[in-house]
Amino acid sequence: MHEAQYSFTFKVYDAIDELNNEDAMLLKKAREITNNAYAPYSHFCVGAVAKLKSGAFVCGANQENESFPAGICAERVLISSVSSQYPKETIEAVAISYDNTNGMSDKPVSPCGICRQTLLEYEERQQQPIRLLLGGMEGEVYVIPKASLLMPLSFGGKNLTR
Ligand code: THU
Repeated sequence: MHEAQYSFTFKVYDAIDELNNEDAMLLKKAREITNNAYAPYSHFCVGAVAKLKSGAFVCGANQENESFPAGICAERVLISSVSSQYPKETIEAVAISYDNTNGMSDKPVSPCGICRQTLLEYEERQQQPIRLLLGGMEGEVYVIPKASLLMPLSFGGKNLTR
């Protein structure tokens, strides 16, 4: 028997103005895209924006439904859009922000488990890391060098090979 440990390193910035211009712009776009959320049930509006290698930007916002499980997170709206519109392109970075219209939006939130699984698979498909920028409407910003770091001991294609 031996013990194993998982840890990873990421950067914490005090505020958006500490980021370089490109990252700050991406996070600003994610903040704006929270306006496109349809979240009448949770009032938690999430915006996600991908910067592709070609320089194109793609966005996604969470879309809820009266039949609650039919709702979909911003990150999966985004990944589905990229895969549908730009199937051959590489995602370099994804910024994720949120506006909690019932409370504060001043700390980064990280993607839910299903979205982590989705981001992980996209990263595996493209064989390039997807940097994540996480931040609310104000406050600290986390920069995570690759999405799969959020998914230790992950399940994936490697487990299904014969
Ligand atoms: N949500 C996202 O869009 N992304 C996440 O990673 C976590 C949660 C959405 C789903 C739902 O519409 C609302 O936030 C509250 O959970």
